[in-house]
Amino acid sequence: MMPLIRLDRIGRCYGGSDAPVQALSDVSLEIVAGDSVAIMGPSGSGKSTLLGILGCLDTPSSGSYLLREEEVGRMSKPELAELRCRRFGFVFQNFNLLPRLTALENVELPLAYARQRPGLRRAKATTALRRVGLADRMSHYPNQLSGGQQQRVAIARALVNEPDLILADEPTGALDTMTGREILSLLDEVNAAGTTVVIVTHDRDIAETMRRTITLTDGRITSDLRAEPHPDSKSPIWAGFP
Ligand SMILES: Nc1ncnc2c1ncn2[C@@H]1O[C@H](COP(=O)(O)OP(=O)(O)O)[C@@H](O)[C@H]1O
Ligand SMILES: [Mg+2]
Repeated sequence: MMPLIRLDRIGRCYGGSDAPVQALSDVSLEIVAGDSVAIMGPSGSGKSTLLGILGCLDTPSSGSYLLREEEVGRMSKPELAELRCRRFGFVFQNFNLLPRLTALENVELPLAYARQRPGLRRAKATTALRRVGLADRMSHYPNQLSGGQQQRVAIARALVNEPDLILADEPTGALDTMTGREILSLLDEVNAAGTTVVIVTHDRDIAETMRRTITLTDGRITSDLRAEPHPDSKSPIWAGFP
Protein backbone atom coordinates (compact mmCIF):
# COMPACT_ATOMS: atom_id res chain seq x y z
CA MET A 1 0.00 0.00 0.00
CA MET A 2 1.27 3.48 -0.88
CA PRO A 3 2.02 5.41 2.31
CA LEU A 4 0.23 8.68 2.93
CA ILE A 5 3.55 10.24 3.96
CA ARG A 6 7.14 9.35 3.23
CA LEU A 7 9.97 11.35 4.79
CA ASP A 8 13.47 10.58 3.60
CA ARG A 9 16.44 11.90 5.60
CA ILE A 10 14.74 15.10 6.66
CA GLY A 11 16.93 17.68 8.39
CA ARG A 12 15.92 21.02 9.88
CA CYS A 13 18.51 23.54 10.95
CA TYR A 14 17.48 26.80 12.64
CA GLY A 15 19.48 29.99 12.86
CA GLY A 16 22.40 31.43 10.95
CA SER A 17 25.82 29.95 10.39
CA ASP A 18 27.13 31.52 13.64
CA ALA A 19 24.83 29.61 16.01
CA PRO A 20 23.00 26.87 14.09
CA VAL A 21 20.59 24.55 15.91
CA GLN A 22 20.07 21.17 14.26
CA ALA A 23 16.48 20.52 15.36
CA LEU A 24 16.05 17.41 13.17
CA SER A 25 18.67 15.11 11.63
CA ASP A 26 18.22 12.25 9.21
CA VAL A 27 14.53 11.65 9.98
CA SER A 28 13.09 8.96 7.70
CA LEU A 29 9.63 7.53 8.23
CA GLU A 30 6.48 6.45 6.49
CA ILE A 31 2.94 6.94 7.74
CA VAL A 32 0.16 4.85 6.24
CA ALA A 33 -3.36 6.22 5.88
CA GLY A 34 -5.59 5.44 8.83
CA ASP A 35 -2.80 4.98 11.36
CA SER A 36 -2.56 6.63 14.79
CA VAL A 37 0.93 7.78 15.68
CA ALA A 38 2.40 9.30 18.84
CA ILE A 39 5.58 11.36 18.58
CA MET A 40 7.35 11.30 21.93
CA GLY A 41 10.58 12.62 23.33
CA PRO A 42 11.90 15.12 25.87
CA SER A 43 11.42 18.86 25.54
CA GLY A 44 13.62 20.24 22.77
CA SER A 45 13.95 16.89 20.98
CA GLY A 46 12.31 18.21 17.80
CA LYS A 47 8.70 16.99 18.15
CA SER A 48 7.04 20.29 17.24
CA THR A 49 9.53 20.85 14.44
CA LEU A 50 8.65 17.45 12.98
CA LEU A 51 4.91 18.13 13.29
CA GLY A 52 5.36 21.52 11.59
CA ILE A 53 7.15 19.87 8.68
CA LEU A 54 4.52 17.12 8.40
CA GLY A 55 1.81 19.81 8.29
CA CYS A 56 3.72 21.91 5.72
CA LEU A 57 3.83 24.82 8.18
CA ASP A 58 7.62 24.64 7.99
CA THR A 59 10.11 23.66 5.29
CA PRO A 60 12.91 21.16 5.90
CA SER A 61 16.53 22.26 5.33
CA SER A 62 17.32 18.94 3.65
CA GLY A 63 15.73 15.67 2.64
CA SER A 64 12.54 14.76 0.85
CA TYR A 65 8.88 14.78 1.87
CA LEU A 66 6.46 12.84 -0.32
CA LEU A 67 2.76 13.27 0.34
CA ARG A 68 0.84 10.63 -1.62
CA GLU A 69 4.02 10.21 -3.70
CA GLU A 70 4.15 13.91 -4.55
CA GLU A 71 7.25 15.92 -3.55
CA VAL A 72 6.12 18.67 -1.18
CA GLY A 73 9.34 20.63 -1.82
CA ARG A 74 8.26 21.19 -5.42
CA MET A 75 4.78 22.50 -4.58
CA SER A 76 3.93 26.16 -5.06
CA LYS A 77 2.83 28.43 -2.20
CA PRO A 78 -0.84 28.29 -3.23
CA GLU A 79 -0.66 24.49 -3.47
CA LEU A 80 0.81 24.33 0.04
CA ALA A 81 -1.85 26.70 1.40
CA GLU A 82 -4.51 24.51 -0.19
CA LEU A 83 -2.94 21.42 1.42
CA ARG A 84 -2.88 23.01 4.89
CA CYS A 85 -6.44 24.17 4.51
CA ARG A 86 -8.05 21.08 2.97
CA ARG A 87 -5.91 18.05 3.71
CA PHE A 88 -4.65 18.75 7.25
CA GLY A 89 -6.37 19.62 10.50
CA PHE A 90 -4.29 21.21 13.25
CA VAL A 91 -4.87 21.03 17.00
CA PHE A 92 -2.61 22.93 19.42
CA GLN A 93 -1.99 22.89 23.16
CA ASN A 94 -3.56 26.33 23.66
CA PHE A 95 -6.50 25.77 21.30
CA ASN A 96 -5.66 28.83 19.13
CA LEU A 97 -9.28 29.95 18.79
CA LEU A 98 -10.05 33.52 17.74
CA PRO A 99 -11.49 35.24 20.85
CA ARG A 100 -13.86 37.58 18.98
CA LEU A 101 -15.54 34.76 17.05
CA THR A 102 -18.17 32.36 18.39
CA ALA A 103 -17.56 28.61 18.44
CA LEU A 104 -19.53 28.30 15.20
CA GLU A 105 -17.61 31.14 13.50
CA ASN A 106 -14.27 29.66 14.60
CA VAL A 107 -15.22 26.33 13.04
CA GLU A 108 -16.45 28.04 9.85
CA LEU A 109 -13.14 29.82 9.35
CA PRO A 110 -11.32 27.10 7.35
CA LEU A 111 -14.37 26.88 5.08
CA ALA A 112 -14.29 30.62 4.53
CA TYR A 113 -10.61 30.29 3.51
CA ALA A 114 -11.67 27.47 1.20
CA ARG A 115 -14.21 29.96 -0.28
CA GLN A 116 -17.28 27.87 0.43
CA ARG A 117 -20.61 29.65 0.40
CA PRO A 118 -22.08 30.81 3.74
CA GLY A 119 -25.04 28.40 3.85
CA LEU A 120 -22.84 25.37 3.31
CA ARG A 121 -20.28 26.73 5.79
CA ARG A 122 -22.88 27.01 8.50
CA ALA A 123 -24.24 23.52 7.83
CA LYS A 124 -20.80 21.88 7.88
CA ALA A 125 -19.62 23.77 10.98
CA THR A 126 -22.83 22.82 12.79
CA THR A 127 -22.31 19.15 11.91
CA ALA A 128 -18.68 19.29 13.11
CA LEU A 129 -19.68 20.89 16.43
CA ARG A 130 -22.39 18.26 16.94
CA ARG A 131 -19.80 15.58 16.30
CA VAL A 132 -17.63 16.87 19.17
CA GLY A 133 -20.63 17.16 21.50
CA LEU A 134 -21.03 20.95 21.44
CA ALA A 135 -24.40 21.35 19.74
CA ASP A 136 -25.54 23.51 22.69
CA ARG A 137 -22.50 25.83 22.73
CA MET A 138 -22.34 27.08 19.13
CA SER A 139 -22.91 30.75 19.85
CA HIS A 140 -20.58 30.87 22.87
CA TYR A 141 -17.31 32.79 22.69
CA PRO A 142 -14.08 31.00 23.67
CA ASN A 143 -13.89 32.76 27.05
CA GLN A 144 -17.36 31.39 27.87
CA LEU A 145 -16.12 27.81 27.39
CA SER A 146 -14.01 25.50 29.56
CA GLY A 147 -10.58 24.39 28.35
CA GLY A 148 -11.94 21.01 27.30
CA GLN A 149 -14.79 22.66 25.38
CA GLN A 150 -12.37 25.04 23.67
CA GLN A 151 -10.25 22.08 22.58
CA ARG A 152 -13.41 20.40 21.23
CA VAL A 153 -14.11 23.51 19.18
CA ALA A 154 -10.52 23.36 17.90
CA ILE A 155 -11.02 19.69 16.95
CA ALA A 156 -14.29 20.56 15.18
CA ARG A 157 -12.39 23.27 13.28
CA ALA A 158 -9.69 20.72 12.39
CA LEU A 159 -12.34 18.27 11.13
CA VAL A 160 -14.61 20.60 9.23
CA ASN A 161 -12.82 20.25 5.87
CA GLU A 162 -12.72 16.45 6.30
CA PRO A 163 -8.90 16.28 6.31
CA ASP A 164 -6.81 13.18 5.61
CA LEU A 165 -4.58 13.90 8.58
CA ILE A 166 -5.02 15.47 12.02
CA LEU A 167 -1.81 16.87 13.53
CA ALA A 168 -2.05 17.61 17.25
CA ASP A 169 0.76 19.21 19.28
CA GLU A 170 0.36 18.39 22.99
CA PRO A 171 -3.45 18.61 22.67
CA THR A 172 -4.00 17.74 26.33
CA GLY A 173 -1.07 19.74 27.70
CA ALA A 174 -3.26 22.55 29.05
CA LEU A 175 -6.02 20.28 30.40
CA ASP A 176 -6.57 18.30 33.60
CA THR A 177 -6.19 14.51 33.39
CA MET A 178 -9.90 13.69 33.07
CA THR A 179 -10.57 16.31 30.41
CA GLY A 180 -7.41 15.25 28.60
CA ARG A 181 -8.73 11.68 28.45
CA GLU A 182 -12.00 12.89 26.94
CA ILE A 183 -10.11 14.80 24.25
CA LEU A 184 -8.00 11.71 23.51
CA SER A 185 -11.03 9.47 23.20
CA LEU A 186 -12.52 12.02 20.82
CA LEU A 187 -9.35 11.90 18.70
CA ASP A 188 -9.53 8.11 18.89
CA GLU A 189 -13.09 8.21 17.51
CA VAL A 190 -11.89 10.47 14.71
CA ASN A 191 -9.17 7.93 13.92
CA ALA A 192 -11.63 5.04 14.06
CA ALA A 193 -13.72 6.87 11.45
CA GLY A 194 -10.73 6.75 9.10
CA THR A 195 -8.71 9.93 9.62
CA THR A 196 -4.97 9.51 10.20
CA VAL A 197 -3.98 11.04 13.55
CA VAL A 198 -0.50 12.14 14.67
CA ILE A 199 -0.18 13.40 18.24
CA VAL A 200 2.90 14.96 19.80
CA THR A 201 3.05 14.24 23.51
CA HIS A 202 5.52 13.68 26.30
CA ASP A 203 2.96 11.62 28.21
CA ARG A 204 3.52 7.86 28.01
CA ASP A 205 -0.10 7.09 28.94
CA ILE A 206 -1.26 9.07 25.91
CA ALA A 207 1.27 7.40 23.64
CA GLU A 208 -0.04 4.01 24.76
CA THR A 209 -3.46 4.81 23.32
CA MET A 210 -1.88 5.15 19.85
CA ARG A 211 -1.06 2.27 17.51
CA ARG A 212 2.46 3.44 16.83
CA THR A 213 4.97 5.42 18.90
CA ILE A 214 7.97 7.21 17.41
CA THR A 215 10.53 8.56 19.88
CA LEU A 216 12.84 11.46 19.09
CA THR A 217 16.07 12.17 20.94
CA ASP A 218 18.12 15.23 19.98
CA GLY A 219 16.33 15.45 16.63
CA ARG A 220 16.79 11.82 15.64
CA ILE A 221 14.38 8.88 15.68
CA THR A 222 15.62 6.56 18.42
CA SER A 223 12.70 4.15 18.46
CA ASP A 224 9.63 3.36 16.38
CA LEU A 225 7.28 0.82 17.96
CA ARG A 226 3.96 -0.59 16.86
CA ALA A 227 1.49 -1.73 19.52
CA GLU A 228 -0.71 -3.80 17.21
CA PRO A 229 -0.74 -4.54 13.49
CA HIS A 230 -2.27 -1.90 11.27
CA PRO A 231 -5.78 -3.06 10.31
CA ASP A 232 -4.87 -2.95 6.61
CA SER A 233 -1.93 -5.34 6.99
CA LYS A 234 -4.14 -8.42 7.22
CA SER A 235 -1.44 -11.03 6.92
CA PRO A 236 2.31 -10.76 7.54
CA ILE A 237 2.81 -12.39 4.13
CA TRP A 238 1.54 -9.21 2.50
CA ALA A 239 3.55 -6.83 4.64
CA GLY A 240 5.79 -4.77 2.39
CA PHE A 241 3.90 -5.56 -0.79
CA PRO A 242 2.18 -2.72 -2.62
N1 LIG B 1 12.18 29.07 15.53
C1 LIG B 1 13.26 28.53 16.11
N2 LIG B 1 14.46 29.15 16.06
C2 LIG B 1 15.57 28.59 16.61
N3 LIG B 1 15.57 27.41 17.25
C3 LIG B 1 14.41 26.74 17.34
C4 LIG B 1 13.20 27.26 16.78
N4 LIG B 1 12.20 26.37 17.02
C5 LIG B 1 12.76 25.35 17.70
N5 LIG B 1 14.09 25.57 17.90
C6 LIG B 1 15.03 24.66 18.56
O1 LIG B 1 14.96 23.39 17.92
C7 LIG B 1 15.00 22.32 18.86
C8 LIG B 1 13.73 21.49 18.77
O2 LIG B 1 12.62 22.28 19.16
P1 LIG B 1 11.11 21.73 19.17
O3 LIG B 1 10.84 21.08 17.87
O4 LIG B 1 10.24 22.85 19.57
O5 LIG B 1 11.18 20.62 20.31
P2 LIG B 1 10.01 19.93 21.16
O6 LIG B 1 8.70 20.23 20.50
O7 LIG B 1 10.36 18.47 21.17
O8 LIG B 1 10.10 20.49 22.54
C9 LIG B 1 15.21 22.99 20.23
O9 LIG B 1 16.57 23.02 20.50
C10 LIG B 1 14.67 24.39 20.00
O10 LIG B 1 15.27 25.29 20.87
MG1 LIG C 1 7.00 21.21 21.25
